[in-house]
Amino acid sequence: MKNKIKCAVLGSTGMVGQVFLQMLAEHPWFKLTRVIASDKREGQNYGGSATWLLPQPLPKSIAALNFAKFDIEELKKADVQIVFSALPADIAKGVEAELRDAGFWVFSNASAYRYENNVPILIPEVNLPSLAQIEKQGFPEKGFIITNSNCTTAGLAVALAPLRPFGIRKMFVSTYQAISGAGYPGLSALDIMENAIPHINGEEGKVIRECQKILEIETEIYPTCVRIPVKFGHLEALWLEFEQNVNEQDILQAWKNFQLDGPALPTAPKVPVLYGDAVDFPQPKLAWHGEPAGMQVFTGRLRRQNNMFGFLLLANNIVRGAAGGSIINAEAFIRQYQGHLL
Ligand SMILES: NC(=O)c1ccc[n+]([C@@H]2O[C@H](COP(=O)([O-])OP(=O)(O)OC[C@H]3O[C@@H](n4cnc5c(N)ncnc54)[C@H](OP(=O)(O)O)[C@@H]3O)[C@@H](O)[C@H]2O)c1
Repeated sequence: MKNKIKCAVLGSTGMVGQVFLQMLAEHPWFKLTRVIASDKREGQNYGGSATWLLPQPLPKSIAALNFAKFDIEELKKADVQIVFSALPADIAKGVEAELRDAGFWVFSNASAYRYENNVPILIPEVNLPSLAQIEKQGFPEKGFIITNSNCTTAGLAVALAPLRPFGIRKMFVSTYQAISGAGYPGLSALDIMENAIPHINGEEGKVIRECQKILEIETEIYPTCVRIPVKFGHLEALWLEFEQNVNEQDILQAWKNFQLDGPALPTAPKVPVLYGDAVDFPQPKLAWHGEPAGMQVFTGRLRRQNNMFGFLLLANNIVRGAAGGSIINAEAFIRQYQGHLL
């Protein structure tokens, strides 16, 4: 792209915010020009103030940035067009609407607007046509909000989308979720070390509601969500009942054939769902594997018992399940509505 589109990240010090920074540092279409966090950080240097938590080093260009104030007029003057939000939902509620009303293109990780009519929960490989809902928000005359799903739902929706034609009648899913999903500083080490916590506030309801909205299915979904002491990557164990008569080969073939409709996007994996044959695949230690790192969903242990099919999946909760999900959404939007810029 000749002139990269300027963007800002809100909540840039958090778990999701850090992934945004790491992925945007070298992005071919977007230029990160504003990092913003809570007011107390304003004017401080990013490298000196934030606690960097990712396994990849903090990019030098990002470390050198100073935190900007959240000021809509200043963002406009600085020609920022895209705002990526990694804010807590209660803060996002006011801020994201203000930004949309001011004409910004907002890509949000927060749940604040996920369930509103005309606000898509977008996953380009899964429900690209839902992008058109931004026109009902007033685009192109106005700005818009596009959300991505909750971290647990993201991996699920990607793995289930190719199986939709089989008619998913019923699904049981048990999750083993990384602590980074609770943000930073998140859970106390004393609560989670050598432990598992069989309750994640609101998570099971989100999984049901978001799977149904994204996949446009009325499947019966029975989730059980558990936090476990790993840093990155949500492992999920599923049992599915299909309406159609399928076998393991049909499922493997559906995953193999699954890909993004239309031209490639910089953050889109060529193989969104990768099945592994090893008996103990997948494991959370693979959370940063794949191409691009953290964007592929890994599946394994496909097996049949009576009329049910079981398998496991692994998705990087802060990449595919959060910041990477927003970035691929912004790319899909640019490709569809601003293609002349490419
Ligand atoms: N973690 C995940 O796996 C995941 C996945 C999908 C979606 N999400 C959603 O993404 C959002 C961010 O999650 P996270 O895990 O990154 O949270 P986090 O680690 O707690 O980070 C929160 C960020 O918001 C900033 N912030 C807090 N209060 C603020 C305020 N009053 N005004 C402005 N900024 C404020 C913080 O800045 P300071 O450091 O300056 O306080 C920090 O940068 C949440 O809505 C979450 O539900 C998270």
